[in-house]
Amino acid sequence: MNPKIEELKNILKKYGQEHLLNHYETLDESHKQELLNQIESINFELVNSLYHNTKKEHKQGKDKITPIEYLDKNKLYDDYQYYENIGKKAIKEGKLAAVTMAGGQGTRLGHNGPKGTYDIGLDSHKSLFELLCDNLKEEGKKYNVTIPWFIMTSRENNKATIAFFEKHKYFGYQKDKNLFFFIQGELPMVDTEGKILIGEDGLIKQASDGHGGIYESLVKSGMTQKMKQMGIEWVFIGGIDNCLVKMVDPVLMGLAIDKAVTVACKSVVKANAQEKVGVFCKRNGKPSVIEYSEITEEMAEARDEKGELLYGESHILCNLFRVDVIERMGDNPLPYHVAYKKATYLDKDGKLVVPDSPNAYKFEAFLFDAFGEVDDMAILRVKREEEFAPVKNSDSAGVDCPSTARELYKKFHHLD
Ligand code: UTP
Repeated sequence: MNPKIEELKNILKKYGQEHLLNHYETLDESHKQELLNQIESINFELVNSLYHNTKKEHKQGKDKITPIEYLDKNKLYDDYQYYENIGKKAIKEGKLAAVTMAGGQGTRLGHNGPKGTYDIGLDSHKSLFELLCDNLKEEGKKYNVTIPWFIMTSRENNKATIAFFEKHKYFGYQKDKNLFFFIQGELPMVDTEGKILIGEDGLIKQASDGHGGIYESLVKSGMTQKMKQMGIEWVFIGGIDNCLVKMVDPVLMGLAIDKAVTVACKSVVKANAQEKVGVFCKRNGKPSVIEYSEITEEMAEARDEKGELLYGESHILCNLFRVDVIERMGDNPLPYHVAYKKATYLDKDGKLVVPDSPNAYKFEAFLFDAFGEVDDMAILRVKREEEFAPVKNSDSAGVDCPSTARELYKKFHHLD
């Protein structure tokens, strides 16, 4: 018997996860090795505590929530050009990069493949990746630069993502020169008894650790180091699933530089007081996002003297960070949130189970949980119809789906 296995068995026993080696003997050599490596690298203490947290009653937070200031991009008047000039200069000097988070599973959309490869049905049949890339290229031309593009994938979709880019000749970008891929972290999925699941390949079933994993992944993969070597000072981080995302915005950048903040975020005003979105706020005096499930009815309805919602600025995953603040955020672990999901797994007899309802916990960190790391941030309200066309659901949902995003995209680009 491999002495390493004996050692690992003891660890598994300590955490009640002995079953992870049940099918070890049925695996080929490379999978055997991979399973052992997985077991060695998993933080069982963390996984067990995350599972126990799922059993705790969710306490109503005692945090002090207050409104946060924002500026409306369409009401900046003379300041518009002032901020824009500052931002333009920095972009021309090559100080801006874009990061696209494309490591999500896209379960709601249900597309077979990375979400970025999805064709939203435009006449051009361009994928989300290509639409975003078109925008970067077009903006880069205005400033006579190529905006470096960093793409976060997951272990699950990394190969397929890179193959897709290769097939499309990287849409004119150059891999490892101005286009970089990096893989986000993951955490094991556990069943309702706290047992870590084994996937169809006989290995531990892991899932991406949420978009909050971005900071740690950027640092660990050496991307922040690379950015600094390239003279990049500011990084726009956005999702893959907003086909109107404006990654290069001199006004946002100029605002951040002028106000000497390290984070500047875009918001769109809530469609109505009851819309189920997270909104910007201050939490114990620090910038934050409050989830719709956390906000009271009274707060959701509250308005200022101008009649604007006090908590009306939705977080749309369009945020600009200074590189050094990403490094700081990457060093500090974020809390994990739990999601109850469907997960295919091998049962104790090695039989494949394909559940038709949720059966497992997935743990995810949220990007905005790191906002409390900074004392202040700038928030710029932009127009929904100009910058926000999310592709979250399949068309049957009727909202935030390919057909709604396609219409918004066409309207904005005058394609009809
Ligand atoms: P969502 O939270 O909407 O998740 O991601 P999703 O994975 O795309 O879709 P569902 O919830 O499974 O249906 C918002 C953005 O964050 C990225 C997604 O790729 C998307 O761009 N993301 C999310 C990651 O990069 N990694 C993650 O672990 C989660």
